[in-house]
Amino acid sequence: MKKTFIAIAFMAGLSACTAKFMVPAQSDADKAQSKYPGTTLADLSHGKALIEQHCDKCHSYKSPKSRGEADWNVTIPKMVKKINGKAGSTVLSAKDEKDILAYMVVMGKGK
Ligand code: HEC
Repeated sequence: MKKTFIAIAFMAGLSACTAKFMVPAQSDADKAQSKYPGTTLADLSHGKALIEQHCDKCHSYKSPKSRGEADWNVTIPKMVKKINGKAGSTVLSAKDEKDILAYMVVMGKGK
């Protein structure tokens, strides 16, 4: 009984973790067109993957909804600079930065 409970709690914990960053859908890519013309679903998925890979190295993950577009426009370039600076090389390209920004803005509050 207790074991079952622990297993369920563990699985719930795991799924909460993997559900942290919303999976973008085609409708999100469509929404992106007005601000970021040419953005595809693959670009948004790429942005999400990069965020999951890099953005908890120095602090906890920040949700796309935690900030508005004006903040992301300032913060994402700043963070990409930090990531490249820490590595001492171009880990994230200008295209990577664009995909990260598009993901944060489109999946976030929008404004
Ligand atoms: C090399 C370490 C490092 C990495 C990696 C990093 N950050 Fe940061 N981040 C910081 C530091 C230090 C601060 C606080 C001071 C500042 O704003 O410069 C910060 C602050 C922030 C803030 C709050 C400040 C604000 O202006 O709203 C957000 C949001 C943020 N980071 C998002 C991200 C995202 C998204 C990524 C991945 C693209 C990321 N960070 C990756 C070091 C990092």
